[in-house]
Amino acid sequence: MGLSLWREIIQILQVTVIFTSCFCLKSFVAENTIDLNNPVTDPGNITSKNGVFRLGFFSLSNNNNFRYVGIWYNVPKLTVVWVANKDKPLNDSSGLLTISKDGNLVVLNGKKDVLWSSNVSYKASAINTSALLQDSGNLILQDASSGKAIWQSFEHVSNSFLVGMRLSVNMNSNKDEIKSTSWRSNEDPSFGVFTMGMDPYNLPQVVVWNGSLPYWRSGPWNGQFFIGKQSRGSYHGLDVTDDKQGNVFMGFTYSDVSLKYFLLDSDGVLKYRHWVEGKQDWEDLWLAQETECDFYGRCGLFAMCNPKNLQLCSCLKGFEPNESAEWNSGNFTSGCKRLKPLECQRNSSQVQEVGKRDGFLKLGTVKIPDFSVWSSGLEDECQSQCLNNCSCTAYAYYEGIGCMQWDGGLIDLQQFSNNGADFYFRVAHSELGGDKKKQKNVVIAITVTVSTVVVAIAACLFWFWVTKRSGKYGTNNSGLIRHPFKNWPLFSDYSKDMSENSMTKKVEELPLFDFEQLLIATNHFHLANKLGEGGFGPVYKGKLQDGQLIAVKRLSSCSSQGLEEFMNEVMVISKLQHRNLVKLLGCCIEREEKMLVYELMPNKGLDAFLFDSPKQELLDWRKRANIIEGVGRGLLYLHRDSRLKIIHRDLKASNILLDEELNPKISDFGMARIFGGNEDQARTMRVVGTYGYMSPEYAMHGRFSEKSDVFSYGMLLLEIVSGRRNSSFYNSEQSISLIGYTWKLWNSGDIAELIDPKMSKEGFEMEILRCIHVGLLCVQDSAKDRPPISTALSMLSSEIDHLPQPNKPAFAEAHVVQEGNDGCSANQFTITMVEAR
Ligand SMILES: *[C@@H]1O[C@H](CO)[C@@H](O)[C@H](O)[C@H]1NC(C)=O
Ligand SMILES: *[C@@H]1O[C@H](CO)[C@@H](O)[C@H](O)[C@H]1NC(C)=O
Ligand SMILES: *[C@@H]1O[C@H](CO)[C@@H](O)[C@H](O)[C@H]1NC(C)=O
Ligand SMILES: *[C@@H]1O[C@H](CO)[C@@H](O)[C@H](O)[C@H]1NC(C)=O
Ligand SMILES: *[C@@H]1O[C@H](CO)[C@@H](O)[C@H](O)[C@H]1NC(C)=O
Ligand SMILES: *[C@@H]1O[C@H](CO)[C@@H](O)[C@H](O)[C@H]1NC(C)=O
Ligand SMILES: *[C@@H]1O[C@H](CO)[C@@H](O)[C@H](O)[C@H]1NC(C)=O
Ligand SMILES: *[C@@H]1O[C@H](CO)[C@@H](O)[C@H](O)[C@H]1NC(C)=O
Ligand SMILES: *[C@@H]1O[C@H](CO)[C@@H](O)[C@H](O)[C@H]1NC(C)=O
Ligand SMILES: *[C@@H]1O[C@H](CO)[C@@H](O)[C@H](O)[C@H]1NC(C)=O
Ligand SMILES: *[C@@H]1O[C@H](CO)[C@@H](O)[C@H](O)[C@H]1NC(C)=O
Repeated sequence: MGLSLWREIIQILQVTVIFTSCFCLKSFVAENTIDLNNPVTDPGNITSKNGVFRLGFFSLSNNNNFRYVGIWYNVPKLTVVWVANKDKPLNDSSGLLTISKDGNLVVLNGKKDVLWSSNVSYKASAINTSALLQDSGNLILQDASSGKAIWQSFEHVSNSFLVGMRLSVNMNSNKDEIKSTSWRSNEDPSFGVFTMGMDPYNLPQVVVWNGSLPYWRSGPWNGQFFIGKQSRGSYHGLDVTDDKQGNVFMGFTYSDVSLKYFLLDSDGVLKYRHWVEGKQDWEDLWLAQETECDFYGRCGLFAMCNPKNLQLCSCLKGFEPNESAEWNSGNFTSGCKRLKPLECQRNSSQVQEVGKRDGFLKLGTVKIPDFSVWSSGLEDECQSQCLNNCSCTAYAYYEGIGCMQWDGGLIDLQQFSNNGADFYFRVAHSELGGDKKKQKNVVIAITVTVSTVVVAIAACLFWFWVTKRSGKYGTNNSGLIRHPFKNWPLFSDYSKDMSENSMTKKVEELPLFDFEQLLIATNHFHLANKLGEGGFGPVYKGKLQDGQLIAVKRLSSCSSQGLEEFMNEVMVISKLQHRNLVKLLGCCIEREEKMLVYELMPNKGLDAFLFDSPKQELLDWRKRANIIEGVGRGLLYLHRDSRLKIIHRDLKASNILLDEELNPKISDFGMARIFGGNEDQARTMRVVGTYGYMSPEYAMHGRFSEKSDVFSYGMLLLEIVSGRRNSSFYNSEQSISLIGYTWKLWNSGDIAELIDPKMSKEGFEMEILRCIHVGLLCVQDSAKDRPPISTALSMLSSEIDHLPQPNKPAFAEAHVVQEGNDGCSANQFTITMVEAR
């Protein structure tokens, strides 16, 4: 509680910094571009439009005058995230950063020698390229006429891994690999010995190498997080994907405005840091190598590393140190060897003890060893598969990954005290424990089990007796369901309607799904079944045994905000039923898992149709009008017709799902808010939503009402008519935003140009123009000028004939704080930020 409050306060401070630096800088530094006429000379620098990053000349040390060109965070402490002339510093102040004759971005010294070049061969003259420092910190060299990026610094990752970057590897070749490389030392940015990238051989994991030797590994990705760290709570927004052609990517997408990034320091330590305004310094939120045991293979083969033990390393049961002398002196690198050979390895000529097969010993909560091999076996097949293959030395089963097996040596095992995996390694039968001992164990186990059960039954009976007497809960055996929700810390920010009791009741009304059932339906949450990323976690498609197709939204267990959104979604959607809202079939709360099960929308999101050229043509005007109307009806139901008044707060194309007949259904209620009786406006400290769809009063002051949804609806109308994303205007000549462009055309009388050229407009021109007109009315700057959704619908259907002239819309020219949206991340992410006061 105290901690989260602190975090909130820190975030507020951070955001305040960005806001203030943004606004005061904008007035006198607007330049974020380099071209032939505007080079940067030492000691100059340029600033990204949002004021977060700078690009220019700097020195790292007072001991020498080496001058470098690079990008750094615009904070009081010099924090360089990217360097151009890493190993060729200038030794005087004659440097020049400019565009060369061949269109490349170059760093020149006083004698005009090229110290660094973007070095792309591209047929353009210097006049036609320019370099732009984007808000994300990405420096792009672009063709000025087409705006196409021909080179970008995000594809040449230095020691810093920022939001918007990706690491990548090709499992078949070394081509197109993107790795991060450490500096040689804190004062020397030339290439150091440590690199970080995706593992090219095994299940997807991140590895830090010392030269060619592994130095740290994250453990495999389970669809939500890397399972090789005990503490996994503090980094969000990492996502691992593959393109089915052997390329594996790890992206870093999440941004909550505050300054956070990963740093691979010159000692090979990977840190996740954030800027703390109060300290005027960076603070580590997370360290990859926290203890000795995090360093790769610390204990050698077949040994367990436990940072809590006096002696760090110990051999697995049934193994002994290879070199006991060294082992005793604290040198564990020789590892351990097997005491008794496995039964299956014995020669058939030797006498085999019949019926005494090898077995497995279990280790709980561990970091599993490296070099796991994925097998398609289900949980119960995993063990027998391993047992029947003599080269299999161990197996583990992890949800989200499935069955993993090892053959040969086991290296880099670590004992956690929580999280981690259950791990089973193979030993000869005789190591499983003597028969007598075993019997004794069985007796003890039975005794313990029986007494536990007795106590548990007694407790249950007592609980039922108590609850029945108090009359507070029903007698349905729903304790199982209720329990996980009861302790969730999320009641502070909700209106009265969301009291704990009503919440519990709502959850009880939902049909429940078995975890096993969903596991089978989604093929163990196989990556191939992943549909995308919802508000609070990944979404998978699946097929129930009766053939029904479902979409399963799985809460990332590391996200507390996700938990809040999950709960919120349950609350909101379980109360609602409308043909233009996506239908919730039920939920699943078992073990650590929390999931929502929806009907599957085979056509996915509107964005996939609208902005994706081949499919765009399927959407003729009739279909688009149907979508516009459907979304409007859904919104009307939320605002007016349901028993409650609900503000969606994150309406956007990707949250509009399409069914077989392309009927729209509004989804993703993670951000939605329920308004009590006569409340019609609220303020929040936490602004959530998606840039470009957020109304100005909400984005800037946190005020939201049904009119903020109307704004998003207006934005959607313009996107549907034009077939263009708001963000497609980023860096464009035409205008700064879709709204700005529309407004320009509207005033110049060319508004018909907005209409998507891929859509035949014959016969519908008036209707389409009316739609644009209504769209403009919905995105007006002042909330009170915007029509309520009911009026907007009447306007669209021409029930209201005469439309007022729209006033100047929001964001027609000025920029609000901009989310760094660049070539690397074309999606529009839902963001969360804290309002500045
Ligand atoms: C960047 O430029 C500003 C003025 O434009 C200057 O005050 C600042 O010292 C420069 N930063 C560095 C690291 O040289
Ligand atoms: C600076 O570097 C150049 C070569 O890059 C060298 O010729 C020159 O002597 C150096 N000057 C100083 C003062 O070190
Ligand atoms: C530029 O790239 C070419 C190959 O594409 C390479 O041979 C050359 O050494 C590079 N030049 C520099 C200055 O990096
Ligand atoms: C570069 O731009 C000039 C005019 O701005 C144009 O005449 C020339 O053809 C362009 N060159 C290329 C290679 O596109
Ligand atoms: C990195 O590897 C080199 C050579 O293998 C070794 O000498 C050095 O100690 C290693 N560095 C660390 C920090 O382990
Ligand atoms: C440890 O023993 C195994 C055999 O059990 C052997 O293959 C390995 O090379 C040994 N390692 C060292 C460092 O002696
Ligand atoms: C540890 O043992 C290995 C051989 O098992 C040896 O090569 C290495 O030098 C030893 N390291 C130290 C620090 O003694
Ligand atoms: C198995 O038998 C072969 C000869 O048949 C022998 O060379 C080998 O050493 C034996 N292996 C073991 C583990 O006893
Ligand atoms: C046994 O395991 C090895 C390595 O894991 C694998 O290559 C081999 O195909 C397996 N054999 C069988 C029969 O499954
Ligand atoms: C128990 O739940 C069922 C449906 O889940 C419901 O029909 C029944 O009324 C409930 N019983 C009580 C006592 O609440
Ligand atoms: C979308 O447009 C708004 C203006 O409406 C602009 O401020 C915002 O930065 C744009 N969003 C993106 C992601 O380009």
